[in-house]
Amino acid sequence: MVRDKWCGEIRESDIGSNMSLAGWVFRRRDHGGLIFVDLRDRSGIAQVVFSPDVSKEAHELAHDLRGEFVIFVSGEVRRRPEGTENPNLPTGMVELYAKKLEVLNEAAPLPFPMEEASEASESLRLKYRYLDMRRPELQHNLIVRHRAAKVIRDYLDEKGFIEVETPMLTKSTPEGARDYLVPSRLNPGHFYALPQSPQLFKQILMVSGLERYFQVVKCFRDEDLRADRQPEFTQIDMEMSFVDREDVIAVIEGMIKRLFKNVLDVEIGVPFERLGFKESMERFGNDKPDMRFGLELKEMADLAAKGTFKVFLDAIRSGGRIKAINAKGMAGISRKEIDVLTEEAQSFGAKGLAWIKVKNGFESPIAKFFPEEILRQMAERLEASEGDMMLFVADREKVVHDALSRMRLELGKRLNLIKDGFKFLWVTDYPLLEWVEEEERFAAMHHPFTSPMDGDIEKMLSEDISDREGLASLKARAYDIVLNGCEIGGGSIRIHRMDVQKKMFEILKISEDEAKLKFGFLLDALEYGAPPHGGIALGLDRLVMLMVGAHSIRDVIAFPKTQKAVCLMSGAPSTVEQKQMRELNIKVDIPLGSVKFSV
Ligand code: AMO
Ligand code: AMP
Repeated sequence: MVRDKWCGEIRESDIGSNMSLAGWVFRRRDHGGLIFVDLRDRSGIAQVVFSPDVSKEAHELAHDLRGEFVIFVSGEVRRRPEGTENPNLPTGMVELYAKKLEVLNEAAPLPFPMEEASEASESLRLKYRYLDMRRPELQHNLIVRHRAAKVIRDYLDEKGFIEVETPMLTKSTPEGARDYLVPSRLNPGHFYALPQSPQLFKQILMVSGLERYFQVVKCFRDEDLRADRQPEFTQIDMEMSFVDREDVIAVIEGMIKRLFKNVLDVEIGVPFERLGFKESMERFGNDKPDMRFGLELKEMADLAAKGTFKVFLDAIRSGGRIKAINAKGMAGISRKEIDVLTEEAQSFGAKGLAWIKVKNGFESPIAKFFPEEILRQMAERLEASEGDMMLFVADREKVVHDALSRMRLELGKRLNLIKDGFKFLWVTDYPLLEWVEEEERFAAMHHPFTSPMDGDIEKMLSEDISDREGLASLKARAYDIVLNGCEIGGGSIRIHRMDVQKKMFEILKISEDEAKLKFGFLLDALEYGAPPHGGIALGLDRLVMLMVGAHSIRDVIAFPKTQKAVCLMSGAPSTVEQKQMRELNIKVDIPLGSVKFSV
């Protein structure tokens, strides 16, 4: 049983020849004498016709075909009768007249109709993922993913990178998420951590003299999941020796250019735009702005200070910020709609959302608190004209930025400002440290191995570690890459000097003992001739998600997990047998089997 062609390949040039096809019955239509079957394989769909005039036996058998039966058919390719061609299908000019039909396997009644599979609930589709993956959209996504990984591997190979596998059973890497732990049977009470990234190992590979490393690698992070996050995901991870930021950036820009050209036939212009972290926060309210549209945030505190609106004055007095955004053309919206926007802003911590409509003058419950001239200046700064609405948030800086950056995206969508296309951006000049209020200490903004800017190294070494302001002003040699408002990668030039690394731990309040315990092996390695080095990791899942225009990262992963980190198909995670637990010296404090997951 050998098929001659894939279903999606038959063309007019095949007319008159005999051939065999194999695949799944997608649709079956009984038209009295003739039975039509849309036969599907990975390549597409071919129309097969069963006619009693060609083969009584095959026609008889075809009566019993049902959706997703697996069949093998042989017959003659003919031109479709005039008027019955389907110009939407590459095979739409021809059909196969079956002489022989073999049913290779039957299929049980389906949990959802294949033709409307994309409309079935996601949990049902995830449970029957093998059926879901028969959909051309998902197959397309997986094929794009495969091609992307291949183009990237070839490109990096050409650039002298070597793919090295690093361990999955390892020690914790500080990337800021919780670890997945694996108990060690041979070492009772000890656990491996699944890697959050190969960070420590790739730096050690530089100490080993590998010069240029990469890996397409699974990483594991136990964090709250969102549409662009999975507990296990894939990084294109790389590291280079004797380089600076510009070298890393050039490698990535070349890679992205090649990737989009070869896989999507899309020309991406290089170099990509760049924004400093501070500027990005000021103009867009976050460090991963979607650069496909404007609607920038504007400073309003100076003008607000000239009015008498208590909320604004209080914010200024307590060291907060007041910023605003122009909701273009939205002066016509109802109170109800404003309430919805306000709730949205409140879900990001804002206490409210003040609004001023530019509509026959200024219309707003807070207009009375400002002289006309100030209102005019506000409108001018926001480039608001008749028909627009100004939206204000006054609060701590973080709240103002969180709420307004969210509002900006929301308005961008609502006002249809987000154009198709791919807008890449580098965000640079990150602060080295960020203050964690709850813990009353600094954390590394990127990770603790990220180097300060050259000019800041001496400053950092001499810095008094209780000088919060001095430390907060230190800049990192870190960079993120953003595509259409999604962070697709991040990296940095690393610390390769022990004295700098030690000082970093001191600032982070990581004791020498703790540092030794957690990443002693990296610190040891840094003592033995570590070259200057740096690198980056790109999230392959996110990149492919954006390339194919999927809304969720789950649509580009063959076997993804739900928001609760459950695989609905395999049922992982699950309880295990008592015997296994005893071998691992593990006791669980909740009655086994009593926990039911929700999806
Ligand atoms: P970072 O933590 O920024 O850097 O991760 C790099 C990229 O990996 C992707 N990513 C994820 N994708 C899907 N699901 C997740 N849960 C998830 N978490 C991260 C993102 C992100 O930009 N070791 C450093 C890199 C370096 O410094 O070289 C690191 O892991 O696209
Ligand atoms: P109030 O004085 O509470 O009636 O609020 C008047 C307007 O100001 C309402 O539209 C509120 O949503 C808005 N508002 C309240 N607090 C804030 C704030 N912190 N920032 C911006 N607007 C606010």
